[in-house]
Order: sequence, then C-alpha cells, then structure tokens
Amino acid sequence: MKLIFEKSKEGRTAFSLPKLDVPEVKIELENELLRKEEPNLPQVNELEVVRHYNELERKNHSVDSGFYPLGSCTMKYNPMLNEEMANLFNNIHPYLDEEQVQGALELMYNLQKYLGEITGMDAVTLQPAAGAHGELTGMLIVRKYIEDNGYTNKTKVILPDSAHGTNPASAKMAGFDVVEVKSGSDGRVDLEEFKKVMDDSVAAIMLTNPNTLGLFEKDILEIARLAHEHNALLYYDGANLNAIMGKVRPGDMGFDIVHLNLHKTFSTPHGMGGPGSGPVGVKEKLKDYLPKPIVDINEDGKYFFNYDIPKSCGRLRTFYGNFSVMVRAYTYILMMGKEGLKFASEMAVLNANYLRKKLEKEFDIAYDEICKHEFVIDGSFLKEYGVKTLDFAKRLLDYGIHPPTIYFPLIVHEAMMIEPTETESKEELDRFVEVMHKILEEAKTDPEILKGAPRNTPVRRLNETIANKQLKLRG
Ligand SMILES: Cc1ncc(COP(=O)(O)O)c(C=O)c1O
Repeated sequence: MKLIFEKSKEGRTAFSLPKLDVPEVKIELENELLRKEEPNLPQVNELEVVRHYNELERKNHSVDSGFYPLGSCTMKYNPMLNEEMANLFNNIHPYLDEEQVQGALELMYNLQKYLGEITGMDAVTLQPAAGAHGELTGMLIVRKYIEDNGYTNKTKVILPDSAHGTNPASAKMAGFDVVEVKSGSDGRVDLEEFKKVMDDSVAAIMLTNPNTLGLFEKDILEIARLAHEHNALLYYDGANLNAIMGKVRPGDMGFDIVHLNLHKTFSTPHGMGGPGSGPVGVKEKLKDYLPKPIVDINEDGKYFFNYDIPKSCGRLRTFYGNFSVMVRAYTYILMMGKEGLKFASEMAVLNANYLRKKLEKEFDIAYDEICKHEFVIDGSFLKEYGVKTLDFAKRLLDYGIHPPTIYFPLIVHEAMMIEPTETESKEELDRFVEVMHKILEEAKTDPEILKGAPRNTPVRRLNETIANKQLKLRG
C-alpha cells in the first residue's frame, strides 16, 4: 500500500474555503516563532483521503473484523448502539456551566451508582483513564488511608505471582514495597504462604478474582478476614469482573477498593493505558480519600461537581475522565439490565469452558478444571515439534484470528491465555477449535510454517525487542 505522501500531487486539495469577506488581520509574531519552510503535507483530494484511511482500517484486526480471544484483556464486541449514544454528546465541552450539562451529569451520577451497586461499593470515581490508572488511584487512596490513620509502619503491598504486571507497578508508583505470594498447586493464592507474609506492615493486598488463570479464589473470605485483622485493605483488580457480574460482588467478598475496566466488562473500546476508563469504587470508610471532584446531587435535585472531599488523594485526570467511554458503558448497562449482565457472565463462562473441553485432549491445559471466563494452555509440549507458543500464536493470525495473550501469567511456562467472551457464537468457537487443531497438525508435520508465520498479514513477524525499543511510528 502506498503512503499518503506518495499519492500526493502538487496543487490537489481536499477542501476549499470561501473568499475572505472580512478585512485581513496580520498577527505579529516574533521572527523565531515563524516557520521557515512550508509544512510537508500530502496534497490529496477528499476521496483519496477517505480511501486511504478506509484501506488502512481494513488492514487492522479488530473485534469487528474477527475473533479476538485475548485472555484477561476481554475484547468483547462493542455494540453499535453504544457508539450512537456517545455521538449524541459530541457537542458538549467540559468548560460548560454545570447548569447546561445537567443531562451529562445525571448520566455520570447514575453510572457511579450502578457501578457501586454492581461491585458492592459505597462511592465511585469515574476519573481514571484505564485499568492501570485505576490501580494507581486505588493505591494512592491506600496511601492516604494509612497516613490519615497514622499507620506509619505500613509499607508493603502483597500480590500473588499470577498478578497482572500493572499491579506491582501501581503499588510501587504509590511508594509501596511489593511482596509476592506464591500460588498453590491449585493455581490459587496459597493460604499458608499468605499467612507467612501477612503482618501489620502490610498496607494492602491486590487480587483479581477470578484470577488470571480463570480460577475463583475460593479462600477469599479468609484472606479478607486476615487482611482486616491487620488493618490492611483488600484491593480488587476488576479486570475479570466479566466472569462474575450479577453473580457475586467484590464488596461482599470483603474487598475495600475496586477498579473496573469499563472497556473489558462494559463493552467500551479497549484502554491499555487509555483512553479508556477505569472507575474506582470504595467502601464508606475510604470515601473521603477519593479523587475530586465526583458528581453529586443537591437538595433541589441539581447535579454538581462535588469538590468537598476533605482528604482527597488529589486529581487523577484533567476534567472528569473520558466521558464518551462512560456514555458507552452506561448505554450497555441500561440495555442489558440486571438479568442481562448476569446472563453475559454466564455465557462468558460457558464459552470458555466449551473451548477448554474441546481443546483439552490435544492441548495441555494448565490447571484443567472448570474455569471462569478464561483458561490457560501450557505450550511447553510444542517444544517436541521445535516450535514455541509465540510461533503458534503468530500462525493464528494467518487464519484471521487475533492471537491470545501469551507468556502471561508468568507462572505458566509458554502460556497461551484464552478468553472467548460471551459475544462469540458457537460456530465461531468451533471454527477456532478447528484452526487450533489444524495449526497443531502443521506443527507436527511442517513446523517451518509456524516459524515463518504470519505469512499473509500486512506486516510479517517483527523483531519484538527492536519493535519495543526503537519505535518506528512513521511510514
Ligand atoms: C488482570 C489485569 N489487571 C489490570 C489490567 C490493566 O488494565 P488496562 O489495560 O486497562 O490498563 C489488565 C489488562 O491489561 C489485566 O488483565
């Protein structure tokens, strides 16, 4: 495909302005502020621009164009209605007077309430821009809590070895020392190991439940009891809420703080550091530490930004967060309703277990038992054929399937983490199983096919280290 600069033809333009009918104004600028040469912009007409970007879009893999079984990162379909609703708010601006945006404020207020209800939390901020940003917010709330209560000895945050990499990073950024706790042979936090590291110096424990192996932490009530006995807070990484929505609430399991990835559970575009949305909910005792402002309602029924949060951990975002993402999530919640959200979780769990059962004979499933919304294949057995999980994942691209998350969680060697989500049909799941078996056959009979994959994508295999370290963002 040609670059848009290569399509450029001198004098071509995509727009024309009417003749100036007001006096020209010369803006005096200092010489060093003036550019010396014309910017090098492509000269193309409107149709060329449209075709160029449409062509680029078609080269992208997305949930709209194909299966995306990205474990833990839940890539579920984003309904078109969400987009329509978000478009309705295109013309509002964060500097508008509260009086003029009562509808938008009402939406935010209701969303705070709904998310609180779904998670079992008493107050919610919508500010954070992604899951990881929510984690940092949560950890800053923990910091405020320990300062306010004079817990000067609380310096540590406990995390299981199956935790997402953003968890330790967030704890560290908020100034805590990270203590890892080992998983037991059943893939869950080992209670005995947990007891060994749990003491009064612990400020918080960060857990996701179900965990990143797709397994429910069945000892959660005991973990919560031990945490609270030592005045530590229990933090819920809500990345996996898609498995339990409407079934069980983190607040009822004993969690004090949760973050949600709206882009995972509530069908909004994916965040990955933003621009997504990672609201944080807290129990009553932590309400005063939330970032400000949050949306509130006064006695006259008027919505307003409440800055009266006395011990706030600060401001996490310019303005109030990514509003258009909130509109999408709100639409989804209203559209699904209470029963619908519960049903979505049931289907996510059913789909994951369907795939697990279909693959378990030929593939090595780590911790092969009934899972929640995701499960992990251990690709170590592929070594026998001279290939790795990475080669297998790359080959999936040739069949129009986005590779699952690989090499995570770290406790499974050669991990391939599969999460089909509730939005895939049985036919699509069966096609995935067929492709998985086909690639396994290729690995056995002609491993070079896998090692050279992907073969029919716009970009072939990258050197991942160089691609990470030397970003090339231009054509
Ligand atoms: C378990 C878990 N926690 C946290 C995150 C971070 O979320 P985000 O990508 O929205 O920053 C992710 C996904 O990336 C995740 O899978």
